[in-house]
Amino acid sequence: MRTLHVRIESTLPSWQRAARSLLADGAAAETVHWDDGSATPPLFATSYAIDDSAPPVRVPATFAALAEAVACHRDAAKWEMLYALLWRLTHGERSLLANRVDPLVANLRDYQQQVERDVHKMHAFVRFGRLETEEGEEWLAWYHPDHDVVARAAPLFVERFRAMRWSIVTPRTTVRWDGSELQFAPGAGRDEVPQADELEHLWRTYYRSVFNPARMNLRAMRSEMPSRFWNQLPELTALPSMLREATPHVDGMLRDQRAAPSAAPFVPSGANSPSRLRQLRDAAMECRGCELYEPATQTVFGSGPPSARIVLIGEQPGDEEDRRGAPFVGPAGRLLDEALHEAGINRADVYLTNAVKHFHFEERGKRRIHKTPRTSHVTACRPWLEAELSAISPSVIICLGGTAAKSLLGGTFRVTEERGKPIYGTRWAPTVVATLHPSAILRMPEEGRREGMAMLVADLRVAGRVE
Ligand code: URA
Ligand code: SF4
Repeated sequence: MRTLHVRIESTLPSWQRAARSLLADGAAAETVHWDDGSATPPLFATSYAIDDSAPPVRVPATFAALAEAVACHRDAAKWEMLYALLWRLTHGERSLLANRVDPLVANLRDYQQQVERDVHKMHAFVRFGRLETEEGEEWLAWYHPDHDVVARAAPLFVERFRAMRWSIVTPRTTVRWDGSELQFAPGAGRDEVPQADELEHLWRTYYRSVFNPARMNLRAMRSEMPSRFWNQLPELTALPSMLREATPHVDGMLRDQRAAPSAAPFVPSGANSPSRLRQLRDAAMECRGCELYEPATQTVFGSGPPSARIVLIGEQPGDEEDRRGAPFVGPAGRLLDEALHEAGINRADVYLTNAVKHFHFEERGKRRIHKTPRTSHVTACRPWLEAELSAISPSVIICLGGTAAKSLLGGTFRVTEERGKPIYGTRWAPTVVATLHPSAILRMPEEGRREGMAMLVADLRVAGRVE
């Protein structure tokens, strides 16, 4: 029986305030009716008075991340689901979130994924049209996300278009970046904003054709142009003056500014400190920077002491690494251990990581076959690698194989030709050495393997000698 009617705004902070108060009052999940204004309130329920002085609730970090994403989901039932989860987490089921087959957890995880995907989609599909206003250039887009993801999606646009002034209008929310600050305002319907392609059409048909001011016939233009374009946006009411100062060409659209996949929005900013690596590792667990996170089991972050003098970079986790969540713990790792040992380097002293932090594979029956990561994956994942390197600041970096070497040294680097030759004075370390990848040695025919191993050991020694 729902007996308490809890009125909140449809925002996470508003839900949190109410949830804290309800928990403090011992209100079990099934007695609470959540109302964020999107549904009709029940007839028989006691209006619940939220107590703002209720103590904060300690929740696992994964719950906080989950709640932040789920709060953007369009289903208003999310509030009740979140509270049911919170209730159970605080009533004897502390590790409930690890139980992925629990229907409530599975449902909420699914909502979380839907929201993350929607953020991705927004990054990929928003198209800006360019306007020239009295204050200068302005970019404008209309987009309809499935969920309330504008605030979550905005930081990447800021990063991408920091130097521009732009607005993205969605049905519920408008976000504007004025070059220094993000502002949120109520949204608007599609009709109120010219669509990107409409905008382009607009420019082509009217702006360019009437560029010759001598021939410009504003009245004719006005009569042909849908009036909503004239009236509803301040930018567009400036059109006549724009025409007066018209520039000779319209470069119109940012044609292919499809947000490239990148881990960047997931990398927490922060100064280097003893806990920086741990902070990065925690954040990387939630990375959705490229498509690889989805089929893989988990993020495999680097491992080793933050004070390591040597960093070894592989390609990407393999099958075993993906399951166990640690780098170089499978067959390639065993070969690497042997090589390190022979080169006189203690594995416990080095930091091991990969250019790409998720396992890229193809399913064949029950087996998962390793697939080489694409350049887009390596590029997307590089912010993690750079953050790790900047946190550790090693003396030597050893790139194991072409993927790692190309990630740091550029796409034209050839390990076969350049292996074992130290490169000095790089941005990440005073010395970088590239060598064979242990997996490449494992794939060599029996008779070549010994030689491959000797090369790897020799190159590791070169690195080991660097002071
Ligand atoms: N190969 C890699 O490049 N990295 C690992 O972590 C395991 C295998
Ligand atoms: Fe993020 Fe890298 Fe994983 Fe892609 S591979 S999701 S960028 S951690």
